[in-house]
Amino acid sequence: MAMEDAIQDKQKRLEKLRGEIHYHNYRYHVLDSPVISDYEYDRLLAELVQIEKEHPEWVTPDSPTQRAGAAPAERFTKVEHPAPILSLGNAFDEGGVREWFERIARLEASVTQADFIVEPKIDGLTVVLHYREGKFVLGATRGDGEVGEDITPNLRTVRAVPLSIPISQGGPQPPELLVVRGEVFITLKDFAALNVRLEEAGEKTYLNPRNTAAGSLRQLDPAITASRPLTLLTYDIIATNGRIPATHSALLTYLGELGFPVVESVHCRSLDDALRVYAGWRDGRDRIPYEADGVVIKLNSIGLANALGVVGKDPRGAIAFKFPAREVTTRLLGIGVNVGRTGVLTPYAILEPVNIGGVIVKQATLHNFDYIQEKDIRIADRVAVKRAGDVIPYVIGPILEARTGAETVFTPPQICPACGQAVEHFTGEVAWYCVNAACPAQLIRNVEHFVSRGAMDIVGLGIKIVEQLVAVGLVHDVADLYSLKMGDLLDLEGFAEKKAENLLQSIAASKSQPLQRVITALGIRGVGEVVAANLARRYRDLGELSQATLGELQTLSGIGPNIAQAIVDWFARPANQRVLAKLHAAGVWPVAQPVAAEGAGPQPLAGQTFVITGTLSGFTREEAKDFIEAHGGKVTDSVSKKTSYLVVGENPGSKLDKAKASGVPILDEDALRSLVG
Ligand code: IVH
Repeated sequence: MAMEDAIQDKQKRLEKLRGEIHYHNYRYHVLDSPVISDYEYDRLLAELVQIEKEHPEWVTPDSPTQRAGAAPAERFTKVEHPAPILSLGNAFDEGGVREWFERIARLEASVTQADFIVEPKIDGLTVVLHYREGKFVLGATRGDGEVGEDITPNLRTVRAVPLSIPISQGGPQPPELLVVRGEVFITLKDFAALNVRLEEAGEKTYLNPRNTAAGSLRQLDPAITASRPLTLLTYDIIATNGRIPATHSALLTYLGELGFPVVESVHCRSLDDALRVYAGWRDGRDRIPYEADGVVIKLNSIGLANALGVVGKDPRGAIAFKFPAREVTTRLLGIGVNVGRTGVLTPYAILEPVNIGGVIVKQATLHNFDYIQEKDIRIADRVAVKRAGDVIPYVIGPILEARTGAETVFTPPQICPACGQAVEHFTGEVAWYCVNAACPAQLIRNVEHFVSRGAMDIVGLGIKIVEQLVAVGLVHDVADLYSLKMGDLLDLEGFAEKKAENLLQSIAASKSQPLQRVITALGIRGVGEVVAANLARRYRDLGELSQATLGELQTLSGIGPNIAQAIVDWFARPANQRVLAKLHAAGVWPVAQPVAAEGAGPQPLAGQTFVITGTLSGFTREEAKDFIEAHGGKVTDSVSKKTSYLVVGENPGSKLDKAKASGVPILDEDALRSLVG
């Protein structure tokens, strides 16, 4: 009986956890207003994972643990849509919108009295989401509008896609069948961050958010989709056996109440009103957090829109009013090369200045040297350039028809343009690197990062001052900032006493920044604010972190083999050790309170001592040691009465006999792994 009670309690806990995780996920990804920390969220998820591991029979497809779970597929299967997934007619100016209005008013006179909903037209990918009894059961691409492709496992990984509706208790009861239409996309901020990460890792950057979202959704391996920052906004119901609201505004409210992220919308009393809203969004386009290529003006009355019907694939009741193009052509005057903080060389286009949507553009990114070659971009070419939001403008490619024969092929530099040392290429990466630790360009970027807001937050130390400090030889590494004196600064151009005093004060104040900020400030490849926070939870200070092993680092959340390697490499470099020693001497040495069990994950081997013998197949000896230590255990060399377990591989030595003789339990690799669950 007690046993049954315990099982029932566990099942109740599982349900509660699922509900809570769905809810916090919704607060984070849909409402953008989390009420618990990432850490607390991870704890809830870890608890659920543990219960599901003990009871695999309780796993259901809508469990939050299933977002990243599915195995790669061989191909996508076709899905017939329950109703056509329609497209939209376009208007490019006000005249076009008025013509549309007059056309439909001739068909239905009540249009002249109609009200409208105006929404941004998101430049993403249409998805069709099927719910049965409130559970997400199928997700498809638009395809040709009649038949799409089944990308359910990929869509499950998109955190903004509700797996179960309604999200909050008290939400409306979902109908038995509900098919919702929305747009999957990547925000401009996430896109920029993704490219920074890739560039720092020496990998290829993506061209634009839409192509990246499209490529990510059509991956056969959902784990790849899961690694991309995709999100969703919904705006329509394609099919249901429940009620359909009478107006589009009520439909959007209903989707929101069920827990879907819903596109922003403005209710307009007249067409003139809608045109004003269009102009507002067009002028404030850079404030829209994603790429929008226009607005959609929709009749608010769903009955009226249905009565008007469809022309071809375009419903008469709505129209897309496009924003002016932000793609222009101009001449490529030359190609410059930047040196980044990690030494990556990045080419950029020097352009004949051109106005793109109200901004004069003189430079644009060319991504990497392979891109220039693949697109056959030549100096003096006429090139197409695109600008979107805050994303750096980029060169789309050459206009081949405009070639005169005077264009020249660009040769990537063999030496660093900043320090003149030979550049290097690492296997598996597209980037070329300047590996000179003393390269002034890298140093400037390094210092710029060190003092930035998310790192040491040294106010008043802008890029111009950093350049001056490096140029006059006052700063050879980030630690030199802490030995700057009043006299040094007063010798610089533009420095009066007050300014120098303020700067010295903010440098001194930065000494009390917490460990996680100092780790961020070091600028280790792949170690941004989140990873730094995890490291600061695990290690007391930079000294302890500098001793961390590869295996140990990989047990921390958010750290894979590449980042772990980058951390180990960073601390192994003598130049960096010198910087650490200088920071220590300057008093920049925060001590954190490590919460071993938090950052390090569970410590099931705590208090147990292991000895390893023979050749293991899944681990090197060092890795097995790291694995045991990362889970709280200790590893010693010889079997004694203190040994808790002997781990045995192929061709064990005499330790095995000794363990047998003294009754020490013997484990193989699998048994070792199962000890930690
Ligand atoms: S309504 C019948 N609303 O734009 C309804 N579409 O060029 C037709 N899109 O394929 C679509 N944002 O993928 C609608 N707020 C929005 C939209 C939107 C983006 C896309 C959609 C459609 C394309 C039409």
